[in-house]
Amino acid sequence: MSTIIAPSILAADFGNLQRDCELVNNSKADWFHIDVMDGVFVPNISYGMPVIDAINKVANKTLDVHLMIVDPDRYIETFKKVGADILTVHYEACTHLHRTIQSIKANGMKAGVALNPHTSVNLLNDVLLDLDLVLIMSVNPGFGGQSFIDNTYQKIKSLVHLRETLGADFIIEIDGGVNSTNAPKLIEAGADALVAGSFVFKSTNPTQTIEDLKNC
Ligand code: DX5
Ligand code: ZN
Repeated sequence: MSTIIAPSILAADFGNLQRDCELVNNSKADWFHIDVMDGVFVPNISYGMPVIDAINKVANKTLDVHLMIVDPDRYIETFKKVGADILTVHYEACTHLHRTIQSIKANGMKAGVALNPHTSVNLLNDVLLDLDLVLIMSVNPGFGGQSFIDNTYQKIKSLVHLRETLGADFIIEIDGGVNSTNAPKLIEAGADALVAGSFVFKSTNPTQTIEDLKNC
């Protein structure tokens, strides 16, 4: 299976959001990656439901929604209503993670869990069989345009090993500082999906950049 490419809308031009969504529609990208930040779990605020609803009206690909918010349980149903196909919560933000995962699935979405750079993949051992996706943060969450953390490769390999050992079947997604230099190494380590924000939207030809990542 070829690598899933998920351009991060956080790096799009919000004044031309429809144009940038259409660019993703007409590119080799597989998913829209949508970052929701609450200013509490992370030191930044991005956008919320009305904006996702607007993106959903234009987007013709999977909406991969990454919640960087505390207490995500309160909004699971609403994210389904505005079009989320995959809903990813942070391990560090969920006291009752098992319940949260079940609730996402009960609401008809694929369930993902994201790990901060300091969080060991082993902590997911008891829920890996329930998950559709694990998102490994390769920067500290909160901002686009940060430098990739090299320890990510090791985490991917450990997670691949856990997946094999358990016979689990989740997608391994990498988010933060992804570019065409680290992408081949991430894929070699076992990544299935790559999020790329700045590298795509700050490039001179985002459509071509997406295709280049797809061909890594
Ligand atoms: C960071 C977000 C990322 C971000 C990636 O907290 O989760 O999805 O948009 O942006 P780049 O690719 O610029 O690091
Ligand atoms: Zn993200």
